[in-house]
Amino acid sequence: MAPQPLIAGNWKMFGTSASLGEAKAIADGAACIRARVAICPPAILIHRISETLVGSCVLTGGQDVHWDDEGAFTGDVSAAMLADAGARLVIVGHSERRTSYRETNEIVARKVQAAVRAGLEPIICVGESLEQRKAGETEAFVTAQVRESIPDELIGKSFSIAYEPIWAIGTGLTPTLEQIAEVHAAIRATLKARLGGQGAEVNILYGGSVKPANAAEILAVDEVGGALVGGASLKAADFLAIIAAV
Ligand code: PGA
Repeated sequence: MAPQPLIAGNWKMFGTSASLGEAKAIADGAACIRARVAICPPAILIHRISETLVGSCVLTGGQDVHWDDEGAFTGDVSAAMLADAGARLVIVGHSERRTSYRETNEIVARKVQAAVRAGLEPIICVGESLEQRKAGETEAFVTAQVRESIPDELIGKSFSIAYEPIWAIGTGLTPTLEQIAEVHAAIRATLKARLGGQGAEVNILYGGSVKPANAAEILAVDEVGGALVGGASLKAADFLAIIAAV
């Protein structure tokens, strides 16, 4: 049976303790009946937001994780630290990390291994640039990212893939519903080839300018099992409207 869709909010580098009120409003307003819901705040807020969410169905997640369990890595955060702070999930391989910090599929796969060791559920991001789309390379690029970012350690474990075209992130642009369906179908086929029956059950989220106004039609596309939401997850009213669109 396919898992419940997942609606995850990626707060990126936005928010301070003043944002705890938004998290509380999301916790109070999210029923989680048709979807699982998660907020991925900056690492420094995970502990306080996890405490704010106690008693609600909303989960907390990290936005990134180091590939080693501990060590001399100034400024980094380990999977065990995220879990200790209350996180249950973690975003890995977001395009902003792949681009700004040169994270390769190999690094992403190692981060996924670290997440699994700490019992965190990874959300693995993939997606093409505008140049790759124009060159007709989308499917080959994205499916290679999926194949190479999934380590064997994920066999039998819960995780999601988030398809996020780089040109749709934070731009207000979205692919057509047909384009979303095409890439999601290609990702599904890749997951089945890689993981057999388990590959049929993995949620494939869509991300990139998901808003209350377009959430229902995107979430209704074949093989879309949820959304990874950036900007629109920062305001409780918008995020709750997206959750209600499932
Ligand atoms: P956006 O970001 O919803 O602001 O486009 C999505 C993401 O980067 O996960």
